[in-house]
Amino acid sequence: MITAADLLTVSYTVAGIAAVAAAAGMVVLRLLAARSVATSLTVVAAVTVAATLAGVVVISNEMFISRKDLDVVLTVVVIAGIAGFAVALLLGRRVAAASRLMLASVKEVGNGGKYHPPSTVLPAELAGLSAELEMAHGLLAEAWDRERTLEVSRRELVAWVSHDLRTPLAGLRAMAEALEDGVVTDWQTISRYHSQIREETDRLTLMIDDLFELSRIHAGALRLSRRVVGLCDLVGEALSSAEPLAQAKGVRLRGSAVPGLPVCVDTAEVGRALRNLVVNAIRHTPSDGAVEVLADQESGMATVSVSDSCGGIPAEHLPRVFDVAFRGETARTPVPGEGAGLGLSIARGIIEAHSGQIGVRNAGPGCQFVIRLPLASTAAAPTQPAAAGLFEG
Ligand SMILES: Nc1ncnc2c1ncn2[C@@H]1O[C@H](COP(=O)(O)OP(=O)(O)O)[C@@H](O)[C@H]1O
Ligand SMILES: [Mg+2]
Repeated sequence: MITAADLLTVSYTVAGIAAVAAAAGMVVLRLLAARSVATSLTVVAAVTVAATLAGVVVISNEMFISRKDLDVVLTVVVIAGIAGFAVALLLGRRVAAASRLMLASVKEVGNGGKYHPPSTVLPAELAGLSAELEMAHGLLAEAWDRERTLEVSRRELVAWVSHDLRTPLAGLRAMAEALEDGVVTDWQTISRYHSQIREETDRLTLMIDDLFELSRIHAGALRLSRRVVGLCDLVGEALSSAEPLAQAKGVRLRGSAVPGLPVCVDTAEVGRALRNLVVNAIRHTPSDGAVEVLADQESGMATVSVSDSCGGIPAEHLPRVFDVAFRGETARTPVPGEGAGLGLSIARGIIEAHSGQIGVRNAGPGCQFVIRLPLASTAAAPTQPAAAGLFEG
């Protein structure tokens, strides 16, 4: 039976030897830090075996263990050590093989491809890394797709816009030349040319202004100077500004809003979006038809709906009306008084910049565009009560 004092001596001695072996192991591990994990695992196994062997030899000398007992213990330790080495090597090779597989998968991705994780079972850390890689590559692939689509639509836009600009410019030039050369002499034609030149110039100015706004939206450079206003006031303003157009076309324009509806928005921008919707509705409604604008609230959002009597938008066009330069018809012949298909893209850009949503559906005798904007806290709402039944045109 071993005494307590002997046990203490054994503990001290073995702890000392283990500490020296561990320190040496740490140094070697540090020197081999850049080598394969298999090498590091072999070092760990070697430290364990060395510490055990040294401990057994030193203790057997101190305790006068018989040569025979020592041989038995050493044989056991050596065999256990060999088993440890083998397992360490196997584990190391497994980790190295798994990381090689991952590396191959990453190399296969290339430019814009998708990362497919290796089909073998990976150690937890590598599996985590692989999952993260898969997600990151997924996001990258989406970004690449978006970039490509954007590039295509940018190129289309430039092509369409240069076409849309060139056609009225050719007309302007022809009229200016006719006036300059004195080809037209009767004052009626001269005055018609003058007013046409002014109208076309106005249209071009509006188009260039729309393009500028759209490019600011796309570049994320829309500067919003927000303040809290009642949405019904904005709707009222949009209706008043569109009223002359409605009257000229013989379209009935009606509007109503529930009082209040505080929203924190850039009034000029949201006003512009609303005007685009109302003007579109009037333009696409035949004379004697009606356009109705309603402002209300629903599930914590302020809503504005603009319903017209256009007869409905073809189902295949519905998902595309907000696309840049989409105008419904395939031939892009500029029609006097019509835009370049930028109005709805601008409206969507403005509303989304305010964390809102815009959508369209066919309803009743025509289609209905709906804008949703987050309601501002009522504490900050304007105090004057807004009237229901905004407008009756
Ligand atoms: N209220 C509406 N009723 C029917 N069609 C519409 C309406 N608003 C928009 N559209 C369709 O969506 C297209 C894009 O509209 P928009 O971006 O405002 O461009 P634009 O008014 O310059 O044609 C229009 O050309 C038209 O085909
Ligand atoms: Mg429009």
